[in-house]
Amino acid sequence: MSDSNEPRADLRDAIRSTGSVRSFTNRPVDDETVASILDDARFAPSGGNRQPWRVAVVRDESIRRDLGVAMRPVWDEYVRQSALGRTPFTVVEPAPDSLTSTAPGNVPNDLLDHITEIPVVLAVAADLSRIAMMDKDLDRPTLTGGASVYPFCWSILLAARARDLGGVMTTFASRVEPAVAPMLGLPANHALAATIFLGHPVKRTTKLTRNPVRAFTTRDRFDGPEFDA
Ligand SMILES: Cc1cc2nc3c(=O)[nH]c(=O)nc-3n(C[C@H](O)[C@H](O)[C@H](O)COP(=O)(O)O)c2cc1C
Repeated sequence: MSDSNEPRADLRDAIRSTGSVRSFTNRPVDDETVASILDDARFAPSGGNRQPWRVAVVRDESIRRDLGVAMRPVWDEYVRQSALGRTPFTVVEPAPDSLTSTAPGNVPNDLLDHITEIPVVLAVAADLSRIAMMDKDLDRPTLTGGASVYPFCWSILLAARARDLGGVMTTFASRVEPAVAPMLGLPANHALAATIFLGHPVKRTTKLTRNPVRAFTTRDRFDGPEFDA
């Protein structure tokens, strides 16, 4: 048993260094490996332990191609909005449609450009009937429901890392959910939470750029003094 001041090195390293991977070698990842990754990820927490996730392992080339075509305009829009210096698709003072950027509409995207070749494509959906949406009646868009599915998505990425695989969670497809739903046979009352890409990394970045604790932590209240432990 480790002392709480001496975290387990392997777990700590995994938490601190699992970066996104968007370029993969052509080495395949078999169904057994995908199943074992999901078998680890299923231990993720969820509200009331209702485990609302559903996963489609998308091997079919034409479905992948259709997904890529549907997601492409979302990427283009993301690039254009980023070029305006705004958080793309923010619900807080979103950029007016009249504000246009000069960003080109065909910026390469490793995932979408190679969607048929990526070793593993997982569509992750959430059964809304199994989610207690605690903030559903507030006068702002809901947020808490995602917490019952995104830890699962993150566990998929950690479980992949444990097998020397890499990957990335994306949410492009959610923006075009109505178009993508029939391609994937998304059941009624389910939301598309993420599309996760996995494979053997071409290269792995383990030195991640993140804000320091003092940048986001205060004492007692969010307007309290810096948490300067
Ligand atoms: C909820 C969520 C949505 C994301 N959506 C996308 C996406 O649509 N496309 C993409 O390429 N990466 C996506 N990412 C990956 C982030 O861009 C990545 O985690 C972040 O830039 C940090 O990069 P790093 O992990 O390589 O340090 C998403 C990550 C999360 C957690």
